[in-house]
Amino acid sequence: MEKILVIKNLNMKFGNHSVLKDIDLEINQGERVFLIGPSGCGKSTLLRCINHLNKPTKGDIIFQNINLNKKDVDINLIRRKMGMVFQTFNLFPHLTVLENIILAPTKLNILDNKTAIKEALELLDSIGLKDKANFYPGELSGGQKQRVAIIRTLIMKPSLIMFDEPTSALDPMMTKEVMGLMESVAKTGITMLIVSHEMEFVKELATKVVFMDKGKIIEEGTPQEIFERPKSLALKEFFNN
Ligand SMILES: Nc1ncnc2c1ncn2[C@@H]1O[C@H](COP(=O)(O)OP(=O)(O)O)[C@@H](O)[C@H]1O
Ligand SMILES: [Mg+2]
Repeated sequence: MEKILVIKNLNMKFGNHSVLKDIDLEINQGERVFLIGPSGCGKSTLLRCINHLNKPTKGDIIFQNINLNKKDVDINLIRRKMGMVFQTFNLFPHLTVLENIILAPTKLNILDNKTAIKEALELLDSIGLKDKANFYPGELSGGQKQRVAIIRTLIMKPSLIMFDEPTSALDPMMTKEVMGLMESVAKTGITMLIVSHEMEFVKELATKVVFMDKGKIIEEGTPQEIFERPKSLALKEFFNN
């Protein structure tokens, strides 16, 4: 199977606080990898290192066979192929839903304005929010905002989408809406890397689960292996809390 992302001996320090320690991880094309672990163990930092929002202290990130450490790498070109969805949506409040969605593809000359609008409206229609195209984010519910944020990522046709706790700011109803959309995204076969505390969701959607604790990967395996036969004390404790 083709590897889309290879992380080798990744280390990240903030000052002398070591946040990621010797992380090795491989993700194949089409996999859905869930990262789980206690708060503060380094999950968000790992995602931010993958797209170089945080520059790793040591180690390699190889995305679609390109080592991001190489001097001539255009990180902005790489980032177009890596979508990122955040807990707090990060929509621009002064732009309408439609303007938020078409901003990146038009600014980067990936789509002309007319095509971008057409694709954005189709995507909005697919999630039942076409009538909200000219609304501002402040006029939407949290679940609607997050679904728009996901659509905004999809219009860039990324090869990998990373989600950092996409439902943890949402109530159960909205969580369901967002998970429903993520399930449809999964059906397209796109590679997904997801940080989530919704264990039922992890079990249902993951092809691989990675458990982190204190900056290290402690265990990884299929959902069955991780949930039914956890090996480490740290993982057993995590499930008991
Ligand atoms: N920009 C930063 N500067 C200093 N420390 C940070 C920074 N970002 C994260 N950390 C620290 O790194 C550790 C891991 O944080 P984070 O990756 O956000 O964990 P998680 O997402 O698993 O909750 C925490 O101890 C956090 O305080
Ligand atoms: Mg986090």
